[in-house]
Amino acid sequence: MDGSEYEAANARAWTVYGQHHLQRGTEVPDVDRVTWGFWASGPGAEVLGDLCGRRVLDLGSGLGKFGAHLVRDHKAVVDAVEVSPTQHERAVARYGNLPGLRLIHADAVEHLKHAEPYDVIYSVHGVAYMDPHRLLPALSNALKPGGRLAFSVLHTNSDGRGPSPSVAARPEVLPLAGGTSLTVHMWVLSPTLWEDLLVDNGLLVDAVDVLDAPDDDNPVSVRLFRAHRRV
Ligand SMILES: C[S@@+](CC[C@H](N)C(=O)[O-])C[C@H]1O[C@@H](n2cnc3c(N)ncnc32)[C@H](O)[C@@H]1O
Repeated sequence: MDGSEYEAANARAWTVYGQHHLQRGTEVPDVDRVTWGFWASGPGAEVLGDLCGRRVLDLGSGLGKFGAHLVRDHKAVVDAVEVSPTQHERAVARYGNLPGLRLIHADAVEHLKHAEPYDVIYSVHGVAYMDPHRLLPALSNALKPGGRLAFSVLHTNSDGRGPSPSVAARPEVLPLAGGTSLTVHMWVLSPTLWEDLLVDNGLLVDAVDVLDAPDDDNPVSVRLFRAHRRV
């Protein structure tokens, strides 16, 4: 499979995932902070700078809960783009009436190609589902010069497997409530590879945060990249 086929398979998996939760009636809880890892510790929205009145994009926004938080608590104006129709449906049911939050059902890259430039673009665990060679040129172009980018990506999975040494997708497990799971294809890359990709696309890396699981017996580790578009 090539990158576009992996991305299409990911969109299908997230559609099944969203349908599963629609059928179960899983609630969408409000959040009062951005959690870049899978747990509550670590930095929050402050890595995005002052968001008041800023034009912000959430890439792979899922249920829209982080976008809703940035609108409510930081006075940002947020577009949230999500490719899975069922995840989008869950977001609309929960946050469809929140002024300042625009929930967009689209492929992130297609949206980026036609969007007015953003002050800030962020993604909580969305970027790793998209081919970076397709995503990063469009992302960089859609960011205002000097605009900020922050995104979190898997670095070490629950089996203790660390990042891949080349820019290639690999299978990862997406657990479903109830004990079953789906296969997704993720770009789990070393920080050096991510940095090279960002720099090649006109983005300068400001920091890479290490976000480890808080419990000692859990090997999962995430990296939070903070960058900005070259002026
Ligand atoms: C791990 S979930 C994270 C959702 C949300 N950011 C959160 O943290 O709650 C990844 C999301 O990215 C979405 N996604 C994957 N590929 C995408 C694409 N090409 N365009 C837009 N969304 C995409 C998936 O459908 C899924 O909802």
